[in-house]
Amino acid sequence: MFSVTCIAPVNIAIVKYWGKRHEELILPINDSISMTLGTNELCAKTTIAASEGFQHNRMWLNDDELPVEEDSRLMRCLKGVQRLALANGSQKVSLSWKVHIASRNNFPTAAGLASSAAGYACLVYSLARLYGVPINEELTTIARQGSGSACRSLYGGFVQWHSGALDDGSDSVAKPVVSAQHWPNMHVLILVVNDERKKTSSTKGMQRSMTTSQLIQHRVDKIVPERTANLKKAIEARDFPSFAEITMKDSNQFHAIALDTYPPCVYMNDVSHAIVDFVHSYNETIGEVQAAYTFDAGPNACIYVLKENVAKLLAAVQKVFPNDATESVEYLRGIS
Ligand code: PMV
Repeated sequence: MFSVTCIAPVNIAIVKYWGKRHEELILPINDSISMTLGTNELCAKTTIAASEGFQHNRMWLNDDELPVEEDSRLMRCLKGVQRLALANGSQKVSLSWKVHIASRNNFPTAAGLASSAAGYACLVYSLARLYGVPINEELTTIARQGSGSACRSLYGGFVQWHSGALDDGSDSVAKPVVSAQHWPNMHVLILVVNDERKKTSSTKGMQRSMTTSQLIQHRVDKIVPERTANLKKAIEARDFPSFAEITMKDSNQFHAIALDTYPPCVYMNDVSHAIVDFVHSYNETIGEVQAAYTFDAGPNACIYVLKENVAKLLAAVQKVFPNDATESVEYLRGIS
């Protein structure tokens, strides 16, 4: 029997991925950019064992066994990495052996905290280690087929997922923008508003947006290209105010599209909106933009803030949200 254990962190999208041009290959309609958290922060940890004696492929998530369907995303990732192993002639482990996969998240699953991104990135990375496949850009095309945003978690620092133009998806890859060392004092404060599973999965929400939102194509054509270019400039220059404005505007636009979807996808709740108001008045009161919120497909807030400003922001959060303060301020993280 051979086994490997790996960990992969979540990434927090700044310019959001929303909408697919190919459902099964998971090809997005727009580029996206995110920051990957540190490897000892919000992570998935996955152990994969392969043995001649195993009868079936099996999978456990947070101790619960899940069925492994032949046409599932998990099997697509397994077959994808096995294909690379064959092509590289590099397999350490026989491709005919069945695998047992056990994965665990150290944070709420499916509550809009990018658990699937960390989970599939970890799965694909672990499979690559098991079969001796090189860790490179091609591997991001496999992680993408587990969960789109997972391709960005294969790299640390700031990462861009290029939508690509080819029908086979071979150019829809993630590439690093800058490493974490470039902006080491960039932190994320995560306010857990609600850790229940989200009502509408991102897969369902995107499908519905693609068929009903009248705004989504405008975003793809007119907004994202300029926004990703400006964001990369802000990251390269370590220009926090510009970074923050883009981050908040893109979060707002993503949720505007979610609401423009019919029936609407409502991911933020009253507390989320109170956090948006709080961040704007906080920045206004201190006369400088020091905090930037972003919300994925759930009510929880991720607040980008520089390390030197964390204590002041945290004190203000605890003052404005006194009842929730101890529960809601769960994670305070840097990147590595
Ligand atoms: O990768 P998925 O299917 O979990 O979709 C992620 C969608 C957002 O989190 C809302 C945006 C993003 O770019 O991560």
